[in-house]
Amino acid sequence: MEQKIRIAIDGPAAAGKSTIAKLVAGRLGYTYIDTGAMYRAMTYKALRAGIDLDKASEVEALLPGTEILLKPGPDGQTVILDGEDVSGVIRTAPVTNGVSAVSAHAGVRSYMVAEQRRMAREGGVVMDGRDIGTAVLPDAELKVFMTASVDERARRRHLENLARGFESDLGLLAEEIAVRDKKDSERAVSPLVRAEDATLLDTTDMTIAEAAEAIIRLAQGRAD
Ligand code: DC
Repeated sequence: MEQKIRIAIDGPAAAGKSTIAKLVAGRLGYTYIDTGAMYRAMTYKALRAGIDLDKASEVEALLPGTEILLKPGPDGQTVILDGEDVSGVIRTAPVTNGVSAVSAHAGVRSYMVAEQRRMAREGGVVMDGRDIGTAVLPDAELKVFMTASVDERARRRHLENLARGFESDLGLLAEEIAVRDKKDSERAVSPLVRAEDATLLDTTDMTIAEAAEAIIRLAQGRAD
């Protein structure tokens, strides 16, 4: 494949986007960009500042001077917020539960979208998120909308948590995922919605390898 294209992968929480996007990026020699990590880092910053996450003006006041860097590392991607490695803490429950509020603010979104476009300028990227195909890279060469049933997504998150060494309640996880889906889909600014020209990939009954393979095949078709 000669041309280095931009691949946008959107979809609801825990559909397997990041795992599959990472695999695809590795296979194609592309850069993986986890945009959810950027909203998570901002949420962590706001929580630490002790402000009300629902107050747009207070959250947005923190944006100037904020630096979020995504660095490829041996264990996946390292997330650096204002010089500090926050890769672990941004996956904890307080951040996960607060991120929908922070990512709903228009000022936060425009700041992140500008950063994300800058990161994708050179091509050769696999970017995952909620609004990549619709708002960040509307002219991406390949757009995929990845879904899986709520129960399957809860099961995957549960296994992921176990692998990280903590227990979780499967029923509660399913509820939290459904709530986050609803918030992400119903927000006024850039709601989670499938781009018209995105290929729908339902991974409920697919393995990670099968889903990655499907995207690589699509990418090969687009880059020719
Ligand atoms: O993919 P994730 O679970 O790490 O994303 C965390 C949250 O960030 C998710 O609830 C919605 C938000 N998000 C967003 O609004 N737009 C993106 N491009 C990526 C994530």
